Amino acid sequence: MTRQILVTGATGKTGAHATSTLLDQGHHVRALVHRADGRAERLVRAGAEVVVADLLDLDAVSAAAEGMDAAYLTYPIAPGLLEATATLVQAAEENGVGAIVNMSQISARRDAVSNAARQHWLAERVLDHFSGTVTHIRPTFFAEWLISFWDAPTGELRLPFADARHAPIAAEDQGRVIAAILADPGPHAGKIYPLYGPVELDHHQIAAAMTRTLGRRITYVPIELDEFRSALEQRGFDSHFVQHLVNVAVDYRNGIFAGTNDIVRDLTGVEPLTVEAFIDRNRRYFDGSESWGNR
Ligand SMILES: NC(=O)c1ccc[n+]([C@@H]2O[C@H](COP(=O)([O-])OP(=O)(O)OC[C@H]3O[C@@H](n4cnc5c(N)ncnc54)[C@H](OP(=O)(O)O)[C@@H]3O)[C@@H](O)[C@H]2O)c1
Repeated sequence: MTRQILVTGATGKTGAHATSTLLDQGHHVRALVHRADGRAERLVRAGAEVVVADLLDLDAVSAAAEGMDAAYLTYPIAPGLLEATATLVQAAEENGVGAIVNMSQISARRDAVSNAARQHWLAERVLDHFSGTVTHIRPTFFAEWLISFWDAPTGELRLPFADARHAPIAAEDQGRVIAAILADPGPHAGKIYPLYGPVELDHHQIAAAMTRTLGRRITYVPIELDEFRSALEQRGFDSHFVQHLVNVAVDYRNGIFAGTNDIVRDLTGVEPLTVEAFIDRNRRYFDGSESWGNR
């Protein structure tokens, strides 16, 4: 059955993959984009109906929700998550949207020190009052981190993660999970799904996997939190983002991001990508033939 699906953050990492999966499955996707740019044009070419709206603008989001069966909510690590969440919930209520899939994160906790992680936990609790069905997804660190935090000239991964571990999960796999829930939300009502890639690794092992796949030596250089904070500030990230990343680095050292499970395979029928497979599929960003930017 063709469903009418609203995808927010549709030009972002998980939103773009959720959109393409849903379109491939024959659903109608209304892709809510923040800006009309080349990424939005690609969504139009793929068959999505694109609307430009700010998730903080209730009139615009309510108009975008009209006639939709279900919605995917994602918002960047930026001030405004709670307002965006309340706005989408209200817009969904006004338009009889039956289901919401909410992007949260593994570190979402009532007592999280990261402001963004604590706000994710609160956003989940706001969404729990929605009259339709709600499913929260709580991914560990995305595999896309390896593109953002790899220094191409030196081949170094300078990160403050000590010897702790996680199983990197690709946005592509999350897109399939999100699409599966949006297409048939009932069985997932009220669920919180921690999402992981298939193999838990420390960053020495991640660097070894990158070395094998890229055919050049990649080294993990463990750094302290102060150096990490300075490097993020030098890259121009804002204080909200820096506060989040420094504090989730502490969570990471404490094992909050560790673990793996079968949820991706069980919900999608597809094994999640290993680090090697992820790098292979995204080689253009590692060999410099396409720019990743500050994503
Ligand atoms: N990265 C990780 O390792 C990780 C791990 C666990 C959870 N998460 C969660 O993932 C979420 C981000 O998802 P993502 O990585 O798929 O997204 P993303 O790639 O960060 O993209 C965010 C999207 O939201 C759009 N956007 C920004 N401000 C907006 C606004 N005011 N109104 C409407 N749209 C707006 C952006 O458009 P523009 O680019 O045009 O502004 C972009 O399309 C965060 O909540 C984060 O906590 C991330």
